[in-house]
Amino acid sequence: MSDFPERLQVYQESVEAALDHWLPKASIQPEKLHEAMRYSVLSEGKRIRPVLVYATGEAFGVDLKALDGPASAVEIIHAYSLIHDDLPSMDDDDLRRGRPTCHKKYDEATAILAGDALQALSFHILAHDPMIQVNDQQRLAMINTLAIASGSRGMAGGQAIDLAAVGQSLNIAELENMHIHKTGALIRASAELGALSVENVDATLFSRISHYAKCIGLAFQIKDDILDIESDTETLGKPQGSDVAANKPTYPELLGLDGAKQAADDLYNKAIQSLDVFDKQADTLRAIADYIVKRNK
Ligand code: IPE
Ligand code: IPE
Ligand code: MG
Ligand code: MG
Ligand code: MG
Repeated sequence: MSDFPERLQVYQESVEAALDHWLPKASIQPEKLHEAMRYSVLSEGKRIRPVLVYATGEAFGVDLKALDGPASAVEIIHAYSLIHDDLPSMDDDDLRRGRPTCHKKYDEATAILAGDALQALSFHILAHDPMIQVNDQQRLAMINTLAIASGSRGMAGGQAIDLAAVGQSLNIAELENMHIHKTGALIRASAELGALSVENVDATLFSRISHYAKCIGLAFQIKDDILDIESDTETLGKPQGSDVAANKPTYPELLGLDGAKQAADDLYNKAIQSLDVFDKQADTLRAIADYIVKRNK
């Protein structure tokens, strides 16, 4: 898709402005906490979850301004998950998005609280944002979608599975289950929030979008596992080799690098098939699926 880079840039600029708007200024008390929240969110992330919110919303004809809130909400949950993921009690990593992790820059207590506060802020945005165009019932569905995707039956649950799996050898079904929860759930919710930003979304189209996002969400974490082996710390902005060092079960470990790449490609094909009911309006979503399996960071 020829204008994908331009769309990506529009989405990224939109979400940067929205994130800056929603995050309390660092001059507001408690300053250190607000500074830490801004430090972790306003850093160089790929913003793939907001991009999915915007691209899905636009496929249904929703105005970008109505998507800024949901896009910010998913990115802020994601940023909180990264802060906690990097803590000594979890992956114990020192580098994130090319700079010291939150607990290294500040301290552990501040990092824990920044994560807590970011999580609450996400739900505040969905509950409060006046630019969200849908009726209150559908707004509740948006809040519920994000709650389920980030809680014990979604991301947090996946992180618990991940920590329990250290040093274990999982089979493919167990590994898939872990990845679908820790990473897939929030990516799937991102597309769903885009679709829920349109009033009375068609049920069939919604389920196609949801299935598309389920496939690319799993592919995203498989690719993350692959990059942990194939890429380098400078490109990634986080420590390469962290999974091997921490004895984490991953797709390449179980299937080999070629097998892991094949699994990501198969998911890409399934994602594209799910979009076959859509015309050109889903081309950006198709380009996102391609980007997810081909990215180098
Ligand atoms: C990293 O996510 C953590 C995973 C869920 C794999 P991203 O690769 O989206 O990280 P950023 O947001 O670009 O830093
Ligand atoms: C992270 O998975 C998933 C979440 C943060 C929820 P990883 O632990 O593989 O992410 P990175 O590699 O540290 O970004
Ligand atoms: Mg982790
Ligand atoms: Mg990690
Ligand atoms: Mg990883």
